[in-house]
Amino acid sequence: MKTRTKLLLGNWKMNKTLKEAKAFAKDSVELSVLAKENNIELGVAPTFLCLEAVKKINPDIIVAAQNLHYEEKGAFTGEISIPMLKEIGINWSIIGHSERRQYNGESSLSCNRKILAMIANDMIPVYCCGETLEEYESGITKAIVRDQIRTGLANVAKEKASKIVVAYEPIWSIGTGVNASKEIAQEVCAFIREVLEEMFGATVAKEIRILYGGSVKPENIKSYLSAKDIDGALVGGASLDIQSFKLLLQNIL
Ligand code: PGA
Repeated sequence: MKTRTKLLLGNWKMNKTLKEAKAFAKDSVELSVLAKENNIELGVAPTFLCLEAVKKINPDIIVAAQNLHYEEKGAFTGEISIPMLKEIGINWSIIGHSERRQYNGESSLSCNRKILAMIANDMIPVYCCGETLEEYESGITKAIVRDQIRTGLANVAKEKASKIVVAYEPIWSIGTGVNASKEIAQEVCAFIREVLEEMFGATVAKEIRILYGGSVKPENIKSYLSAKDIDGALVGGASLDIQSFKLLLQNIL
């Protein structure tokens, strides 16, 4: 069985112009060296517009898209396909981020189509799940997350599943500064691993990396990563500034 390599992924959302992205990429080169020396995978998810430039400037950082379309090409105005991403060397994408579910009508079912298309093309999805505040307060977090995982990852072949990354992001903690406690995060991530075990078996479930996301900061990242089932972090706000990104990395070395 492979051990789970720690993963720190910055989600830039709709931030950074090309010029700003290039400057960040340049400054991130030394961070990638540090990450590699310490066996940590480091990545960023810029907007489509900046993917190629970031990848060229720092070939050692994981560069992920924030979304993609499951069809190869066609009449889908405003969309970007897998072959387009692969041509510029992009092999990762976030899928089903709560903001896309909220503002773009994405469902676990549409995420499933994207994930199956990605896996068929040897790409790595970072599949996001997580409950709303209302769902959390009603005590149905596990039922929600279970459904998101079972639907989103349906029909993924067992032998391909270990490459998938899952990100647990309680919606009430995204961009709010209200963190889920380490205990809550660990409990849900352990539960996600149980669902993955039902779907793919114990060996594969132990290989799949599960990230926590939602108001992760340099001050709290270490605590999350000390939890047994949390293998890394998906970070929005605190990943945008290179100094803060550096601190996030340094604090998990
Ligand atoms: P945040 O965002 O770190 O700004 O809370 C996390 C995310 O949406 O992935």
